[in-house]
Amino acid sequence: QSLKIGLVPADGIGREVIPAARTAIEALGSDIPKPQFIDLLAGFELFTKTGTALPEETIAALRECDCALFGAVSSPSKRVTGYSSPIVALRKELDLYANIRPVVSVAANPSGKPSVDLVVVRENTECLYVKQETIIATENGREARAVRLITERASRRIGRMAFELALTRPRKHVTIIHKSNVLSVTDGLFRETVRAVPRQEPGKFDDVTIAEQLVDSAVYRLFREPEIYDIMVAPNLYGDIISDAAAALVGSLGLVPSINAGDNFVMGEPVHGSAPDIAGKEIANPIASIRSAALMLRRLGYIQGADRIDNAVDEVVRQGTVLTPDLGGKSKTHEVVDAIIKRI
Ligand code: NAI
Ligand code: MG
Repeated sequence: QSLKIGLVPADGIGREVIPAARTAIEALGSDIPKPQFIDLLAGFELFTKTGTALPEETIAALRECDCALFGAVSSPSKRVTGYSSPIVALRKELDLYANIRPVVSVAANPSGKPSVDLVVVRENTECLYVKQETIIATENGREARAVRLITERASRRIGRMAFELALTRPRKHVTIIHKSNVLSVTDGLFRETVRAVPRQEPGKFDDVTIAEQLVDSAVYRLFREPEIYDIMVAPNLYGDIISDAAAALVGSLGLVPSINAGDNFVMGEPVHGSAPDIAGKEIANPIASIRSAALMLRRLGYIQGADRIDNAVDEVVRQGTVLTPDLGGKSKTHEVVDAIIKRI
């Protein structure tokens, strides 16, 4: 028996950090079934060479895998004809409807508890990311519009994912992030649907407490008192923004992992992008990607393997002598990887 893992490094530092995650998985030995890695293509650079950002073969191969790791894609901020982000497409194709992003500070505060220990549970298939944008010329200049899709089905399943996750955590506290004072129809539906989740399975979520917070003040409170948050469940765009913001609180985007999860597949992915400013310099922090591998394995039930990776990473971060420049260190990517592997 083997564990078939699709690897999609894609662009920029994705190509530096995905091999790091692979090395960490290989270091686990018999804690997991023998891994079999499948290298797959996607990304903007591929698009510029071949005209395709996400080849059919990549999607087909992923469907044959047990799980996957995705690096990052570079996306031009101007519209390029024929190009659309492969990661957004993949989340849709594989119905990976939840993006789960744990943000945890490693260094404990004086009370001994990490001051940031939260999970952003981001809806991954709709909201403004359906990318239905149009532009027209009017007598007052151009006018652009975007569709924001919120469905009851997607809100319910992400809500359910958030409550299920809350049950596994000591505090069991869910905060619903929305802006229904302004967007009362779309965010109103999201909020109401997530709130109704516990009522559908009476008894199951009795221990979970529910709060809600408007997205703007949620970011404010996140910076002032991050310890109030446990699970933050949010529509796609807010979840994207909040998780990058939360990453700042724990030191670097280079530390924060995620998984894209559906009912039948899981794909690990660092929260950061392709970081063109540091790509090719061998200083990308591999930790977000390595932790994404651990999250992926944890979701598949390989708890011991996941723990070994996470503990090794925590030790390296706590020790603080082998770190990449984003964390104030002087080490190269491969030196951090070596330090982690030694501890695994
Ligand atoms: P980014 O996350 O790539 O970089 C933001 C800042 O954080 C940069 O200064 C970068 O050097 C630093 N950083 C990020 N990851 C790091 C790591 N592992 N180690 C050390 N430093 C790290 O976001 P940015 O610059 O806004 O976007 C760059 C490109 O990435 C864009 O084309 C964007 O579309 C794409 N992107 C792709 C994502 C994905 O594939 N899921 C997510 C976010 C952005
Ligand atoms: Mg983002």
